[in-house]
Order: sequence, then structure tokens, then C-alpha cells
Amino acid sequence: MSDIIFEQIRSGGCLSYLIGCPDTHSAIIIDPKSDQTDHYLTLAARDGLHIQYLLDTHTHADHFTASQTLARKLGAKVIMHRSSVAPYINMPVDDGETIIVGKLRFRVMYTPGHTSDSICVVLPDCVFTGDTLLIGGTGRTDLPSGDPSQLYDSLFNGLLKHSPELKVYPGHDYKNRSNSTLKQEIAENPRLQKKERDEFIKQMHELDLKMPTHLTEALRTNRSGGKTVEQMIGDAAARISFMSLEELKRQIETTPDNLIILDVREKDAYKESHIPSAINIPRGQLELRINDVLPDPTLRILVYCELGKISTLTAAMLQDMGFRRAIALDGGIRMWKEAKYPLQ
Ligand SMILES: [Fe+2]
Repeated sequence: MSDIIFEQIRSGGCLSYLIGCPDTHSAIIIDPKSDQTDHYLTLAARDGLHIQYLLDTHTHADHFTASQTLARKLGAKVIMHRSSVAPYINMPVDDGETIIVGKLRFRVMYTPGHTSDSICVVLPDCVFTGDTLLIGGTGRTDLPSGDPSQLYDSLFNGLLKHSPELKVYPGHDYKNRSNSTLKQEIAENPRLQKKERDEFIKQMHELDLKMPTHLTEALRTNRSGGKTVEQMIGDAAARISFMSLEELKRQIETTPDNLIILDVREKDAYKESHIPSAINIPRGQLELRINDVLPDPTLRILVYCELGKISTLTAAMLQDMGFRRAIALDGGIRMWKEAKYPLQ
């Protein structure tokens, strides 16, 4: 593929693709994954690519798409099948349409089955199959909107009728394989050996697969454009500063009056033991009690919780309320206890 800039990005069994036109430097990312966002941008910068499109081959149930975040950052368009419900899609596509990226032409094939909004995208010598066809497997059909009978049609009456020489680039691979060909899959893929509809459906029903770890959260965020919990905490952490456990211990010993230490755990946990001189307002009561307990917004407030996550969110929220010097403990009281630091 010399007339194409091609990167396959592997992350935890997921495969995404950065494809660029070497003449115009326009590019598309197929199935961008949220933990690879900076990686894509670095690769694009290295090759001088302008990312024009983010394409998700379907609504992912097992990981978080980066399409919305990247589209916002880059002013790029988000492409999905027209039946996808995510509100941030601004270029819905349908079967048979062509996406032009510089001099490259990607043809869209509607291939429902793994999900009702699955598509494959075809270049002259390869196909990006999403989870419709994997190397030695197919996408599962037991997750929301999956349908084995539709997958049968998408494969046997659709995808597999293309030239057998087409290279297959799937959306997942857990064995470090990069690609295969339709020919190879037709010959060797165990799922494709069940060529009758009924037996194909039967084998799909008989797969006894574990649910993906983040199923609910992935579907919630990928379908709605909302944030993951990790994104919430990451966004909050990017806006505040932190204090290490050692530094807090030192400040308690040397300049205890310079700092309000705020414990946002529940009352019972606080009563049992807390960091010396800490005051307690449980997180759930904070907005309603803050004006009475902390009337001075210029105070330096250090927030802590059990693990360091709620305190990060809380410190960012306090900053929004005007407590510009609110910071969080880097760690939680659990780590404080493990370090055998003093308790009260
Ligand atoms: Fe999938």
C-alpha cells in the first residue's frame, strides 16, 4: 500500500487505523479509542496529516470511542451508520456511500449483526471490518442490538462476496495478528465453516461469552456522548494541583494553621479516624453546607477522601465555586494509613 499512509494502532486487543492520503495529507481514523487520543495526534503530526474524519464502525460496548473528543479538538466530522444514536455524529452514512479522503475513496457497506449499526469500509485492496469479521472469528451477536441472522446475511450475502484477495483489517485481535484476507477467512475461519443460516445462528447462540467489563459505561458514553468516570476524574485532575502525603504530614507538623484539611468521607468513617485537625463535610452535603462551614473563599483547602478520586472531583468543584486555592491530596486516607502516618 504505497499510495496510502497507513498506521494500525493496537491497544488491549482493539485495533484502530489512521489512514492518510500521501498527496493531500487528508486523513481518517477508524475506530479511535479514547486511551490512544494523544498517540493518534502524534502520528498525524509526524506525517503532517490533517485528520478530517473519525469513523466508528459501530457502537462499541467494550471500550470508549475517542471520536467525540478528537472531533472537538480537530474540527473533524464523526462518521457512523445512520442508525447510530450518538448525538455527536455529524456525518451519518448509509450502505453504498463513498467517503472521500484526499484521493482515497472508502466505500461504506452496511453490515448489521454484531450490532444494528455496524458498517465495514472498503478500499480497492482492503476492507476494515470492524467487528463484523475478525481473524478466525466474528463479532459476537449477544450484546444489545446484535442479531446472528443479520450477521449471517452481512457475511455470506455481503462481505464474503467481495474479491477474495481483499485484505481484512479487523476491529479486534487478541493474538497479535495484523490482517488476513477474505480468502484465508473463508477457508479457515471456524465460524464461516457453518455456511447454512440455521447452523450459523445455532453456533452464535451457543457461544458462552463473558460480558465486557465496561459494558454499561461504554454503551452509556458511546451512545450519549457523555463522559466516562475516568474522564471526569482526569478532567478534574487537570485543573487542580495536589499535595503529597509526605508534604501534608510535614505541614501538619510545622505550619498546621496554613491549611484547612477537609475530609469528604461519610461521617462514620471520619469519626472512626481521620487526619489530625481535619474537618468533615461528607461529599453529598458539601454544596449545601459549604457557605456555613467555609465562608472564606480565599482559604487554602486540602481535600481528601478514601482513595483520592472523590477528593479530586471535589477540589475541582470547589474551584468552580470560587475556592481558587482548593487542592487535593495525592492519594487517599487509605494510603495515609498504610504509611503509618498519624491519625486522630
Ligand atoms: Fe464491537
